[in-house]
Amino acid sequence: MPNAGELRVLYTREAISGRVAELGRQITADYQGRSLCVVGILKGATIFLADLVRSISLPLTLDFMAVSSYGHATSSTGVVRILKDLDTHIAGHHVLIVEDIVDSGLTLRYLLNLLAARGPASLRTCVFLDKPARREVEVPLDYVGFAIPDVFVVGYGLDYAEDYRHLPYLAVIDGEKSRG
Ligand code: IMP
Ligand code: MG
Repeated sequence: MPNAGELRVLYTREAISGRVAELGRQITADYQGRSLCVVGILKGATIFLADLVRSISLPLTLDFMAVSSYGHATSSTGVVRILKDLDTHIAGHHVLIVEDIVDSGLTLRYLLNLLAARGPASLRTCVFLDKPARREVEVPLDYVGFAIPDVFVVGYGLDYAEDYRHLPYLAVIDGEKSRG
């Protein structure tokens, strides 16, 4: 286990749950009369997605993709690999991609291009966190939980070397050193 430094709470469990419920209400209102195909990006989005879909009151299906843009450290390689593709066809469906965090934007950019080519009726993005300072490519974000500064965060699905995903709050790792 790498020495990741001290954890400092950025958003409490209560703050997160309030914001996620708001996003759910907004999505419910925006998609009234339609059904939604929610595509979660493994593994980081799982906790956010589980809470989010339970505050959406629409007919809804779930599917997952796994991609890898980072190794086990915290610096971007810029390489996006598909580790698991969707099980279902999305042509003609209203697709909402749910991602944990947008950093460089490379992962989401790649996924948007890939899924757009499959002919969905609509394609939108919902991200728990936006780190705009680190953006390298432009990506449209339709729903954002919180915008955060350029710090490395863990918890609520986000990991450092696969640990900390299970924390019910979002924390900053102070003194985290492996940043490129
Ligand atoms: P992007 O392709 O640079 O936008 O990277 C997105 C991915 O990088 C996310 O899905 C996360 O897995 C990872 N990532 C970026 N910033 C953080 C962070 O602060 N904490 C944990 N993971 C992060
Ligand atoms: Mg990760």
